Amino acid sequence: MQSESLSSAEVKQITTKYTYGTWRRQKGWNPVHVVDAEDCYFTDADGKKYLDFSAQLMCVTLGHKNKAVIQAIQDQARDLAYVGPGWATTIRAELAKRLVEVLPKGLTKYFFTTSGTEANEAAFKIARMCTGKTKIISRYRSYHGSTMGSIAATGDPRRWAMEPAGKIPGVIFAPEVNCYKCPILHTYPGCGIACAEYIEHMIANESDVAAVILEPVVGTNGVLIPPKEYLPRLRQICDKHGVLMIADEVMTGWCRTGKWFAVDNWGVVPDILTTAKGITNAAIPLGLCATSEKVASYFEDHFFSHGHTYEAHPLTLAPAIASIDEMKRLNLAARAVELGAYIGPKLHALKEKHRSIGEVRGIGMFWAVELVKNRKTKAGFNTMADKVAGTPLLVDKVAAKMMASGVYMQAWVSHFVIAPPLIITEKEIDAGVAAFDEALSVADAEAEN
Ligand SMILES: Cc1ncc(COP(=O)(O)O)c(C=O)c1O
Repeated sequence: MQSESLSSAEVKQITTKYTYGTWRRQKGWNPVHVVDAEDCYFTDADGKKYLDFSAQLMCVTLGHKNKAVIQAIQDQARDLAYVGPGWATTIRAELAKRLVEVLPKGLTKYFFTTSGTEANEAAFKIARMCTGKTKIISRYRSYHGSTMGSIAATGDPRRWAMEPAGKIPGVIFAPEVNCYKCPILHTYPGCGIACAEYIEHMIANESDVAAVILEPVVGTNGVLIPPKEYLPRLRQICDKHGVLMIADEVMTGWCRTGKWFAVDNWGVVPDILTTAKGITNAAIPLGLCATSEKVASYFEDHFFSHGHTYEAHPLTLAPAIASIDEMKRLNLAARAVELGAYIGPKLHALKEKHRSIGEVRGIGMFWAVELVKNRKTKAGFNTMADKVAGTPLLVDKVAAKMMASGVYMQAWVSHFVIAPPLIITEKEIDAGVAAFDEALSVADAEAEN
């Protein structure tokens, strides 16, 4: 909605004075006043258009203002805007039918939430209830959400401010899978996937482990892609010890990695899969906690002790149906593979040219470019502690230069996440990569060799 009475300066001033900027010190927050967004672009109050090279928070997979999604919201608001979770609705049944089709085989019972965070909270409670065990194993390079349980299971520094209060009893951390900067052996290949084997060591020595939660491809923390043995081995370990595997696909779901879900790349079916973001093209808040038949069967005769006023809210479910239908119509999983094959060589070519690039990695249309001060030591320009301390980050300088040339790209500590809407054209990719190429001179100037 446009206001006739507020100038853009007033909008920004009121926004920053009266509302919180997330995950940051409030001082110095100077948000762009966005007035419109369509397809792969958003527009500011001065009419400047920005190419959205990260689909906002890696969530607007179909592009901004997808017509079918908007129509579904409008129709549902008119037909049945709200009814409580205890009732059956056509929209709920229609969505369930589609989810059975696209989710990994066997994930056939669903709990709906209004965020990825809540989907993970539901997963933890369900895992604890149906196993009768307490502990959750997570990994250091991870983000699983912002509320007390999910932040406790988050490995990255967004957890630090909540220590020790944010720790729900029993969350423990395993080493991440990161073949560029392996936390265990500092070498790959030939490591014998020690990062997976160590999780078995933890399960055996901890006792009382209910579940392991993992992003199959780590998202914000660097698009970390596991070696092909990792997930199948972890599946075996979980099965052997009666521990549930929770795949957090909040970011990786909905065709981003070239399959409907990232786990499909390795043929692994988790016991619980959580997702959100792209499920409605981010046009309406919706999360999903999908469970296996085995998990579901426990609750036939046991109290399902969980719920929300907005669970299965009709207005949130309608755009999910439209999004799934659109993803099928546009064959988006295959499109992600094609786009990945197009952008990958271009990003690798940037690495040849820019000494500040340490590694380029990606799967489907989900890529990270990691910057390093020194290629030999792999030392970054900044640390996670810098991020929390509010120290100006080099990646933010590069991102600011890109914004000046009309391209938006998500930066986190020492890398960029490239995940544009999957409707992006090759010409638009070229424009985004060209802006990145130019902006990287800022980092090159500060690199050591
Ligand atoms: C992997 C992962 N899990 C959970 C979340 C939390 O989702 P939400 O922000 O919808 O609560 C995010 C958000 O970025 C995420 O990337």
